[in-house]
Order: sequence, then C-alpha cells, then structure tokens
Amino acid sequence: MSCVRLDPHSYADSDQPQTRAIDLALRADFQHRTLEGEVTLRFGEPGGGAIDLDTRELRIEAVTALEGAPLRYELAAGDPILGARLRVNLPDGARGLRIRYATSPTASALQWLEPPQTAGKEPFLFSQCQPIHARSLAPLQDTPRIRITVGRARFKVPSRLRTLMAAAAKGREDAGSGEAVDVFEMPQPIPSYLLAFAVGDLQQRELSARTAVWAERAVVDAAAYEFAGAEEMIRAAEQLFGPYEWDRYDILVMPPSFPYGGMENPRLTFVTPSVLAGDRSLVSVIAHEAAHAWTGNLVTNANANHFWLNEGFTVYAERRILEALEGRETSELHAAAGRHDLQVTLERFANRPQLTHLRTDLRGIDPDEAYSSVPYEKGYLLLRKLEETAGRPAWDVFLRSYLGRFRFQSITTDQFLGFLEAELPGVAAQAGALEYIDGPGVPEGAPQSRSARLEQLRRGEVEPRNPTELLVVLQSAPADPAKLRELDARWGLSQRRSLELRHNFVLLQIRAGMPEAVEAARRVLLETGRMRYLRPIYTALARRDPAAARRIYGEARAGYHNIARTVVESILDEQSDK
Ligand code: BES
Ligand code: ZN
Repeated sequence: MSCVRLDPHSYADSDQPQTRAIDLALRADFQHRTLEGEVTLRFGEPGGGAIDLDTRELRIEAVTALEGAPLRYELAAGDPILGARLRVNLPDGARGLRIRYATSPTASALQWLEPPQTAGKEPFLFSQCQPIHARSLAPLQDTPRIRITVGRARFKVPSRLRTLMAAAAKGREDAGSGEAVDVFEMPQPIPSYLLAFAVGDLQQRELSARTAVWAERAVVDAAAYEFAGAEEMIRAAEQLFGPYEWDRYDILVMPPSFPYGGMENPRLTFVTPSVLAGDRSLVSVIAHEAAHAWTGNLVTNANANHFWLNEGFTVYAERRILEALEGRETSELHAAAGRHDLQVTLERFANRPQLTHLRTDLRGIDPDEAYSSVPYEKGYLLLRKLEETAGRPAWDVFLRSYLGRFRFQSITTDQFLGFLEAELPGVAAQAGALEYIDGPGVPEGAPQSRSARLEQLRRGEVEPRNPTELLVVLQSAPADPAKLRELDARWGLSQRRSLELRHNFVLLQIRAGMPEAVEAARRVLLETGRMRYLRPIYTALARRDPAAARRIYGEARAGYHNIARTVVESILDEQSDK
C-alpha cells in the first residue's frame, strides 16, 4: 500500500480511514495544568489496518475500539516540528476508535494562566490550535484537509468558572464536589485547527439576536462598547459574500497574553484585549475575524503552503467590509498601512526570498516560524489586482460562486486557479497572478492605494483626524528625536491606549536612539503578549540595546504564551549570534 501524506505538517495518510466526527470528554485540572479524558474518532467509511494520528506531548493511556476492545498501538519518537506519530491497528470494518489520554503541562495549544495574569484574578485556560497545535490537545488527524464535526464535547471544570467553546452550547450539568460539566456540539464540519475553547470567570453582554461579547467581568462593558457594531459587520459581509453559515457570532476578549490580534474560531472569535482602545478605532480586527467565517472557515487552505488562501482573501474581505461601512477613504488608508507592513517584512526576509512567495514549500519548516504579513498583504494585492483586471461587478460574481463552489471544503492554490480560469478566462494571466503566487517580493504593476486624503496626509497638508490617519502619518515620520518629541507633544502618542499607535511610536523612538525609548518599549512589552507588537519591538531593541531587551524579556516572559516565548527567544538568540 502506498503512503500518501496529505499535508507536510501531518502524519495523516490519504489511504487510511478519515475521521468525520469526534467526541471529547475532558477534565481541566488547574492544579496540575493538564486535561485528562478521552477522545472518540468516528470514520466517514468503515476501515481497517493502520491509522496514523498526530500527537504532541500526549500521555496515551488506552486505545480501544468503539465497543471497548483494546487495540494495538505504537507511539513513535517525537519530531520537533510534527510531534509524535501514533499508529493504531484497526480491525476490519472499524467505524472509529477511542483514546484515553492526558495533555502535558507544556502543551503547545494551551495556556494556563495564574490568577494574577487575568483581569479578575481568577484562573484562566485557553486553547490556540492554528496552525498545528490541536495535536497537543488530543490525538487526531491534524490537517485541514480533513473536516470534522463534534457530536459532543464535555468539559469538567471548577463550577465557579465557565467553559466557552467555538461550538453550540448545550448546557451545564452539576458534577458534584465543586465541579460542573459544560456541554457543546459543533454540527458544521471544521478543520482541526478551529477546535477552540476557553475556561474562566466569563460574563456576557448581548449585542444583537445572534451576537454577544464575552469577557472577564472587569472588561465586559468596555468590550460591549467597543464591539457594538459587530452585527452590522456580519450584515455587510452577508451582502458581499452570501449568508452567514455559523448561526451565532460571539466575541471572546482574551487575557493580555493572547498571542494574536484575533483568532477566527467558528461562532466565537477570540480577540486580544489590546483592541479595546476605547474609541472603536481597532474594530478592523473584528471585520477580519468575522470575514474568516467565509474565507478560511467555509473555504479553507488545504495545508500551510496555501495559507494565503485563508489570510489574503480575508484581508481583502475585511477591507471590502470596511469600505461598505465606512467608505473607500477608510479602506484605502488600511490598505496603505498594510502595504507599509509588507515592506517591513520583505526587508526582514531579504535572505529568505522563498518565504515572500504566496505559495510556499514548508516541508521541514515550522509554520509558526514562517508566519509573516506576506500571505496577508501580498495576498490582498493579488486579489485586488484580479478585481481591477476583471472589473468589480464580474469579480464580485466570481467571489460568490467561489465561496459557493468550495463551501466546507479545503483547497489548494491550483484549485483556486483552476476555478478562476473556468469562471473568468484569461484574467489570471492578464493580472500576472503567477508572479505573485510563485515569485518573490511585490510584482511591478501591483495595485496602489489611492485617496486624496492619503496624499494630503503624507505631504503633511492636513492634520490627521482619527487614529487610522494618525497611524499612516506615523508610518512615514522620520526617526528624528526633535520631530518625534514634537509629534508626541501634539498627539500624546506615548500616552495612547492604542498599542497600534504606541508600538509604532516606540519603534521610531528606538530607531532615533532616544534614551526614553527603553522604558517606553518596556511598558508595551509588559502590557501585551500580542506577537504583532512583540516581534518588531524586540527585534529593534535587541539591535540597539541587547542587554535591555533581555532584561525586559526576563520580566515579561511569565506573561507570554509559549508560541510568543519561542518567537522572542529566537529574536534574542539571533542577535547574540552576530
Ligand atoms: N488566523 C489568524 C491568526 C493566526 C494565524 C493564528 C496563523 C495562528 C497561526 C487571524 O485571523 C489573524 O490573522 N490575526 C491577525 C489580526 C488581523 C486583523 C490581521 C493578528 O493576530 O495580528
Ligand atoms: Zn486572519
């Protein structure tokens, strides 16, 4: 029998039975920082022989058939990127299997927070499975090629806490001795990276019939104010991309250590508290995560080599939503800010040009390490180029038929290109699509964001009138101490709540060699664990003042997620190698 790996980051084999549904029953042990319990995998078709599952740092206790008979299995040695293959021998006609196991206290998908690390001084636990961390949560076929529903997920937790899952809530059962079981079900088929849950002292505020915010008590009202426009965003997206297929759209505000701006977990976006700017200026993060309900969650990248299909489409969709709600001026400003981010990344990857292609070859590379703004912003540029080439009316028809054709499927770049050619013949060639997909950098003739306002702001002819405008001005500011002090006096930049503004200002201060930069950087680095801010600040600081960078990291490390620690440590090590 041949062995056909579906995905460079999974042991799943296309000749073996494929999971169609799972059940989970887990107990969260906050004292030992483990989840213990069982997962049941149910196949689409009865099968037999070997099945290879992905695991990372799991303690496997028993593997049985659905009827309870023990099965033979073998847990291989762990690979640093992929984890350890678990091979189970199935009897002929098997419809599934069940595994008793426990997670490790250092599971890469989980963060166990101590009470001082949360707003309410209560324990908190959350998962982050994208891209390949679900395997540290449960043994499964951890590839987006395979989609699963969740029949029943049961989480036993201390009863003063509550579990939220990116799934439909099915109630709570009392479990005695101060514990309760929260029950969920996920009827829509999802890739494993979208499995997600959080446990904490969580409160809810309803925003509309199908949307609500959840957060720790101390921030829930601020969150309800900030995200009041969520329903309007979903409606705008439905107008553009077709019906919302996931029933509810809730938002969960995470503790500050959450390593991302947002994570598009189905029905329940996870979002960093750093978007609570108090003025709704950072809600484009919600537009982005909501847009993933179509681009990413409905039509999904087949594996990490096609990640741009998720993120490029979603940045494009995010800006279309912003354009619909706030006008072209605003969406162009966001595109200009994104173009700036892309330029910074292209410089960072000057000696790894393959990572600036949209389609990548990540065999042997950890997707967390390859992560950058390239799939986002270069992907956006390609889709905008295609829009401009086809004309918006034809392109919008294409987008809807693309989402309809591949809904609840996971696809490759070639599948996208094949469908594009069938629906809009010649457009890809005319737009030079392959230069974006398989070539480095930004192709000549790439779209440029344009607005009269943007030009005036850049020339300094008009004063910025909102935080996004201020950001664009800041991005073109010179790293000159006198000029920066003047900007600070005028705009109160170093006092801003918005880290989007403050981190850019800190970067300029560091670049200008200003003595106050270290303390300003320290304040940002202690306030958030969001990698979008940590990565550039640690990089700049490690270059100017490596001792300060290390000292601050020592202070901040406890408040960072494992994924962020790895990223920061590689930045600090790289600097000391030079
Ligand atoms: N899906 C991503 C986050 C992600 C990507 C997590 C890859 C793990 C691996 C999410 O939708 C995202 O793109 N978040 C952005 C914010 C967004 C507004 C661009 C982020 O975290 O900065
Ligand atoms: Zn995204």
